[in-house]
Amino acid sequence: MTLPHCTVVDHPLVQHKLTLMRDKETPTSEFRRLLKEIAALLAYEVTRELPMKDVSVETPVEPTTAQKLDGKKMALISILRAGNGLLDGVMELIPSARVGFVGLYRDPETLQPVQYYFKVPEALDERMVIAVDPMLATGNSSAAAIDLLKEAGATNIRFLCLLAAPEGVQRMKEAHPDVPIVTASIDSHLNDHGYIVPGLGDAGDRLYGTK
Ligand code: URA
Repeated sequence: MTLPHCTVVDHPLVQHKLTLMRDKETPTSEFRRLLKEIAALLAYEVTRELPMKDVSVETPVEPTTAQKLDGKKMALISILRAGNGLLDGVMELIPSARVGFVGLYRDPETLQPVQYYFKVPEALDERMVIAVDPMLATGNSSAAAIDLLKEAGATNIRFLCLLAAPEGVQRMKEAHPDVPIVTASIDSHLNDHGYIVPGLGDAGDRLYGTK
């Protein structure tokens, strides 16, 4: 089974938690907890096609054949800084995954993403790589982060976000058609400041209480 280019997880639990996160009155501690919970639910979807293998197991009743993950190595890559909010929830579900970080900022003059940090696990080419960033807005920094991961050897990449703008989904489709996106919602559009509408504001600020 192959994931489509963009999957919206419309499960009631995900949508309920997302609505609470959109509310501007939701405090930082609650926002952080909700993001972690949704991350675990989205992780189910993004890992849907992990290969399985048959193993023998003895239950208290009788021997049987059952399925286990087929030893696929995984790497979770957080796109700083808001990615760390999603990372925490995904790590709880996949504790054996290796973890990396990509830091990008937008140059105020060229408006292009500039790398300031890059630390990823070795042998990315042998791993399923899940890049996480809550907000897929213009898609410029997400596409640049995926470029860096591909330069580092990754060939099997998925992108996990909480909210996407149609512009960001399109940008990613053009730049990286081989990277499936999993999200909880594709919102209406981007405003003049590059914020997702209706969105939830600045995910990093809401996650860390910096505004
Ligand atoms: N980044 C955010 O944190 N929020 C947006 O709406 C867009 C980009």
